[in-house]
Amino acid sequence: MQTERIPIYKPYLGEEEREIVAECMKSTWISSQGRYIDDFERGVEAYTGAKHAIAVNNGTVAIHLAMLALNITSGDEVITTNFTYVASSNAILYVGASPVFVDIDPLTWNINVDLIEAKISSKTKAILYTNVYGAPADYTKLKKIADKHDIYLIEDAAESFGATYHDKKSGTLGDISTYSFFGNKTITTGEGGMVLTPHKELAEKIRKLKNQGNSDTVRYYHDILGYNYRMTNIQAAIGVAQLGKIKVILELKKTLQQNYERELETLVDFQKLLENSTSSYWMCSVLFKSAEEKIKVMNALEKENIDTRPFFTPIDELPFYDKVDDCPHSKEISAKGMNLPSFPDLKKTNQDRIIEIIRKNISKS
Ligand SMILES: Cc1ncc(COP(=O)(O)O)c(C=O)c1O
Repeated sequence: MQTERIPIYKPYLGEEEREIVAECMKSTWISSQGRYIDDFERGVEAYTGAKHAIAVNNGTVAIHLAMLALNITSGDEVITTNFTYVASSNAILYVGASPVFVDIDPLTWNINVDLIEAKISSKTKAILYTNVYGAPADYTKLKKIADKHDIYLIEDAAESFGATYHDKKSGTLGDISTYSFFGNKTITTGEGGMVLTPHKELAEKIRKLKNQGNSDTVRYYHDILGYNYRMTNIQAAIGVAQLGKIKVILELKKTLQQNYERELETLVDFQKLLENSTSSYWMCSVLFKSAEEKIKVMNALEKENIDTRPFFTPIDELPFYDKVDDCPHSKEISAKGMNLPSFPDLKKTNQDRIIEIIRKNISKS
């Protein structure tokens, strides 16, 4: 008999989410007004220490809003990593600007900060970086470069909710930071996202942009070209319940990562964390000696009804981006890496099975 499929991820939902959604339905405030939007935004501000948090309807539009708020437009360049989820760079294209790809560090898998300055030109407006798979990038160096060249720093923290860098929470490490609350994220609202910033004027502009450019004083008058990027009260209610569990979720995910590392450390490589930083361990990830070994292990797990995910395709290899030839590490890591089941309540017996199958299908040398 086929055993039940182990997915790569499933949200950590319980009675709290069911109750709060029911309460929301009862109140009839199911659209984008209602108390939970405010509760969720203020809750995330309190948790992260961010000055301004603005709920939106997904993580992709959060980055689009960051571009719009910073007036990044056609003819501008944005420096970014070649190894991330596609939404990051797509937001640069949405505003007509050009992404300038930088290779990753082969150990941290995050943007190699030492390669950035050579790519800065008179057209550069910002650096958009990702904390890939939940591990913080080198913020101190990124901030130094951004300040030196008077350009903006945008943090795509979609994968790093709960991660820390020198005691600061991911989500506070940029002029603008963004989260995703998609179903597979550390906390989820189904679909959802957030924009965070320490700058009051930017926060006000982002609120206006996400809400059809509505005037603050005249009803049905729109000062600027805006968008409907609003989160619903139901989504925010789920977010409030999820935020209440963040400590437990992070602990469970850390234990999963530690188990994978302890049992597999002689056979595969793991993402290296910077000193004084903690990961959200969004996706537990392993790097094999070769692409062939990765495929062999992936197939073996699939045969046992266990889901895995290949690493992101380097962005420049997607058909609507220009190819680059100076990002060898993003290509190599992409080819050899794989994400493993990483959901908080993955049972230890199931994780042991996953580990055993990986061990069996790997050559030791
Ligand atoms: C790094 C990164 N950026 C942006 C996004 C986009 O978020 P969403 O799927 O909520 O639009 C994701 C999520 O999938 C992501 O992993």
